[in-house]
Amino acid sequence: MEPEKKIKRYNRIIGQLSDLLPKTNNRLARMSTIVALLHHKMDGFFWTGFYFLHDDKLIVGPYQGPVACQELKKGKGVCWAAVEKKQTIVVPDVDKFPEHIACDSRSKSEIVVPVTNEDNEIVAVLDIDSTIYSNFSKDDGLELERIVKMIYS
Ligand code: SME
Repeated sequence: MEPEKKIKRYNRIIGQLSDLLPKTNNRLARMSTIVALLHHKMDGFFWTGFYFLHDDKLIVGPYQGPVACQELKKGKGVCWAAVEKKQTIVVPDVDKFPEHIACDSRSKSEIVVPVTNEDNEIVAVLDIDSTIYSNFSKDDGLELERIVKMIYS
């Protein structure tokens, strides 16, 4: 998708989320709504979901797409790298990411965005996989960071 078109699409989704999310304070409901909108409105989103941080595990939360790993053990993969580095990680080719955890061999690129609570602690990550190589850029990271901020605001 053209970068400009993609940003417009994200802006429309953010507009919809601004109407929908304030209808509940429940974080799980908000996350489920975010996943449904992103998965069905963005092109090439093959798996879209959250993993919750619980001690030394990341445990799957609301998601759309094929069945995925339920728990990700600490210290391996893109989701844990985002937690440990406390930053968004864009992976253009998952096979080139050391110790990438492949829940589905059809995934070719990935982006993971940390989710922080009111105290600025990481409580979850938003993970999106695509069957298209290099489907995610810095722009996706910036827009998705805006979106996950809406969960706790
Ligand atoms: N690829 C992720 C695991 C989760 S699945 O993509 C849904 C990782 O390396 O952490």
